[in-house]
Amino acid sequence: MSQQKKTFYITTPIYYPSGNMHIGHTYTTVAADTMTRFKKLTGYDAYFLTGTDEHGQKIELKAAEAGVTPKEYVDKIVANTKELWKLMNIEYDDFIRTTDERHEKIVQKIFRQFYEQGDIYKASYEGQYCTPCESFWTASQLVEKDGVKVCPDCGRPTELVTEESYFFRMSKYQDWLIEYIESHPDFIQPASRANEMINNFLKPGLQDLCVSRTSFKWGVPVDFDPKHVVYVWIDALSNYITAMGYGTDHDELMQKYWPANVHLVGKEIVRFHTIYWPIMLHALGLPLPKQVFAHGWLLFGNDKMSKSKGNVQYPQPIVERYGCDALRYYLLREMPFGADGNYTNEAFLTRMNADLANDLGNLVSRTVAMIEKYFDGVIPAWTDAVDEALDTPLREHCAALPRLVEEQMDKLQYSQALAEIWKVIGECNKYIDLTQPWVLGKDPEKKDRLANVMNMLAECVRYAAVLIGPFMPATPERIYQQLGIADDSLKTWESIQEFGKLPVGAKVQKGDALFPRIDVKKEVAALTGEDEKAEKKEDKKQQKQEKKQEKQEKKAEKKVEIPEGCISFGDFEKVKLVVAKVCACEKVAKSDKLLKFDLDIGAEHRTVLSGIAKFHTPEELLGKNLILLANLAPRKIMGIESQGMLLSSVVEHEDGSETLRVLMADPIMPAGAIIG
Ligand code: ME8
Ligand code: MG
Repeated sequence: MSQQKKTFYITTPIYYPSGNMHIGHTYTTVAADTMTRFKKLTGYDAYFLTGTDEHGQKIELKAAEAGVTPKEYVDKIVANTKELWKLMNIEYDDFIRTTDERHEKIVQKIFRQFYEQGDIYKASYEGQYCTPCESFWTASQLVEKDGVKVCPDCGRPTELVTEESYFFRMSKYQDWLIEYIESHPDFIQPASRANEMINNFLKPGLQDLCVSRTSFKWGVPVDFDPKHVVYVWIDALSNYITAMGYGTDHDELMQKYWPANVHLVGKEIVRFHTIYWPIMLHALGLPLPKQVFAHGWLLFGNDKMSKSKGNVQYPQPIVERYGCDALRYYLLREMPFGADGNYTNEAFLTRMNADLANDLGNLVSRTVAMIEKYFDGVIPAWTDAVDEALDTPLREHCAALPRLVEEQMDKLQYSQALAEIWKVIGECNKYIDLTQPWVLGKDPEKKDRLANVMNMLAECVRYAAVLIGPFMPATPERIYQQLGIADDSLKTWESIQEFGKLPVGAKVQKGDALFPRIDVKKEVAALTGEDEKAEKKEDKKQQKQEKKQEKQEKKAEKKVEIPEGCISFGDFEKVKLVVAKVCACEKVAKSDKLLKFDLDIGAEHRTVLSGIAKFHTPEELLGKNLILLANLAPRKIMGIESQGMLLSSVVEHEDGSETLRVLMADPIMPAGAIIG
């Protein structure tokens, strides 16, 4: 009998097709796709579900505005969404739409069962409703803005609504759920979210949930009371099981894959997934998903990027210019899964240059170029006799890499998993500097040694190619082509369980740069769609400058060779670091992150803002000697010009939290003392 593969079922939220999907939705979907690919790579039978949440008043209104039916409206957005997922190289197994008949029928059945069991009852409801957020609030939940009570989520006015509705008796299950969450520490991740749910929602007492509406029609009708449509969460959350054939005669997928291994969700909907959804499942007699993982938000400035706020970045222009792998890499690498992070084109482009063009791209191109130069393009064999001490750490590190990556992926720490791979890539680049192949190449007696170096590099590159596949699915094949690896069995997880399986004798083949180096400033301008003429002008200037710079660099290179990844002393001299004494420090009003400093740096005083308020109080820093990067271009933050940057050290923890300490100089040093 063949061994059954272990199953793995992962989902994204089903998104509202009230507008086109932006990089926030892309973030979750890429994360789910990457996990699915990783699980498949490592031998699982993985299933990946995504889809759209198409009912509700907001869509009804949007469609009316556009002069089309709700269905016509969502059909268009769904088509765009599927196009986008194709562009992002997303391989979902199923795409569920809440307007699918298969879904609607089962939602009706589930609703009826809840009613018949006594979990749902009918009553009259009065509440404050925020239409853009589709959320009901009690009067005490509203917040005051300019003297008006507004929605605590989006800050817009709400309206008082009275309706006859059905309610789900959530309170009945409260104690069971508290006990469940407390006895299943992996259920809600990051763990801080579990505490939040217990302390903020469960312990104070669960309110019964309103689960139907009569004020609009665009929804699944309650079949025994057709004046009502099923309201949002019963409809939306059920998708995770209706897509698997739950409640039908064809529930093979349900049998095979339920309970889901992980529901990926943004942190704003963790409450629905860890309170209402478990209670619904329990009421249906179904086991709970093994985990709900709440990831953070991509922010735009200080705000969550969102369709209803209109402050969004779409993936298409980025992918068109740089390919989907660069964007996928950035999304997964930039912020720990669980934490928030800012999206800026500049940060994206800077990282693309540093990690993809420089670290990975250079390693591949240098390795291939050297094998061409020294071995006519044929990957040479390894000779034990000329193994050197410095080979061992790299070989051992690379051999351990699959396990290190898997450990991080088991915790959904995509960013850390990539960091592990890039550590080895960095080590390879260092290994080139240490072994100095260009020196070995001059000495015919060192041919075997040079062969070992090339063999080692090529094998490390192969490992990296296999491991980045789930994250950047289009890139490995480009690397295999350059390495001359055609045999599919050398692209598998099994093939990286034992170091040294490289096909000796394969013929490498130089290709295009994997990720071209780009000019960040220029690309930021292009991406933000700045004035095209100016761009062309700049272009010419740039080209001239680039040529000039290239010439200068070539000249300089001849003098001293600066190894890859290093800066010259001249570069370092440009950085002006000084001791800065804190004369005054206070929190910036309306910001929970920023501290404002008055710093004495000897000859002058500087005003500097630093986003460290969560980690230091103003009092503890008063009078301290800190370290200021004094020649950073000034920058306005919340209307205040910040004239420099304070150095600090930071570590990210598994749960996405951080510890940060600002760096201090010895107290005996006078303000303004030069550091360097
Ligand atoms: O909430 N940063 O749909 P939605 C990170 N239909 N992730 C983001 C994001 C951002 N700025 N913006 C969106 C809904 N997302 C419901 C879900 S599930 C049964 C029903 C991602 O269109 C993130 O995954 O508002 C977030 O939870 C989801 O999109 C919300 O999508
Ligand atoms: Mg939303």
